[in-house]
Amino acid sequence: MYKCKICGNELNIIMSFGKMPIANGFISSISDDEFLYDLILCFCPNCFMVQLGETVKPQMMFNDNYHFISSTSKVMAEHFEDMAKEIIDHVSDKKSPFVVEIGCNDGIMLKHIAAQKIKQIGIEPSKNVAQLAKEKGINVIEEFFNLNTAEKIIRDYGKADVICGANVFCHIEDLNSLFAGINLLLKDNGILFFEDPYLLDIIEKTSFDQIYDEHVYYFSGLSISELARRHNMQLADMAHQDVHGGSMRYYIKKDGLGAITDRAKECLSQEKAFGLQKIESYLDFKDKVDRICQDLKTTLAKIKQESNRIAGYGATSKSTTLLNYAQIGPDIIDYISDITPTKINKYTPGTHIPIRSHEFFTADNPPYTLLFAWNHKEEILKKEKEYRKRGGKFITYFPQVSIE
Ligand code: TYD
Repeated sequence: MYKCKICGNELNIIMSFGKMPIANGFISSISDDEFLYDLILCFCPNCFMVQLGETVKPQMMFNDNYHFISSTSKVMAEHFEDMAKEIIDHVSDKKSPFVVEIGCNDGIMLKHIAAQKIKQIGIEPSKNVAQLAKEKGINVIEEFFNLNTAEKIIRDYGKADVICGANVFCHIEDLNSLFAGINLLLKDNGILFFEDPYLLDIIEKTSFDQIYDEHVYYFSGLSISELARRHNMQLADMAHQDVHGGSMRYYIKKDGLGAITDRAKECLSQEKAFGLQKIESYLDFKDKVDRICQDLKTTLAKIKQESNRIAGYGATSKSTTLLNYAQIGPDIIDYISDITPTKINKYTPGTHIPIRSHEFFTADNPPYTLLFAWNHKEEILKKEKEYRKRGGKFITYFPQVSIE
């Protein structure tokens, strides 16, 4: 039986994916030992938080060899530039504003704040990506954020006007400690804003490959309201973002600082209308996941028989869930093309599909390519115009399997 990591209530199981390796645990040799854990998606009927039943120690995922580099996508770079503009607008009337980003990765967002000479600090425990941020002129604290970090920052720099995070809060198991630290570090009239993949998008689109070890939580406005309330804060606004297959940006203020916006009210009523607050709404999720996996496997098997060659595109964390759950291995996918230098020539966790450079992919010109990086579809289809002109076809799998 699993307990809610926010309120301690007993959790309901939505579905189990069985044993999984670490999603970003790309290995150098197929004889490397791999750590496995049970990937189980759960729902808390008390505080509505959707979360993993079993979690992996953060040090197993976010270490000196973290493979996730934010700046590999042009669209994401633009997205974070816009986020920086929103922060700059927000602090424009302040005398000496101070911005703290939790999980700054390679500095993709914070570099725009630093460029405006605004006082900033990024918190980043993965040393290899922290180094990339430092090279962009960002002040980085290389540790996991908690109450102690908050106290240290206040002592050395003062309280923050803005605290933010993108695709990071859903990684942090002890959200109560995170929020306690944030409440301490944030000025009374400050604002917290963060964004993560949005639960309603995941459930509606059955984008189940978003579920993996790093994503301990799958947030909604309903669960974030409850979490904020526990820490004397309140959900003030919500803004839907198109990135990562549908994300939500949440704006949180300290209690008593004004009313919730109409657009946030609208989001909350959509969530209620869908039923994100009750377990019944999640019960057909597993059937939908199984249907997609079965359809994809049938399609791939047919193509493999006809053309004998299928590549993958984007060695994403998401692909680890799909490949391991659907049991798709190197007998089906010959290799996966990726532009991240540290992933090239490694193997996918659990399924051991080799990862090759984009140059290799272009020279190989495979007839079919399974798009694992489906969240960058528009950008990739544009980039691969020539490949498609030469007859190359992309296979996608949400909301159903299709070839284009
Ligand atoms: P990402 O979108 O971050 O997904 P996840 O969070 O599931 O890991 O990963 C995208 C991956 O795809 C990353 O390894 C870089 C790769 N990629 C390419 O190889 N080419 C591209 O044009 C883009 C946009 C990404």
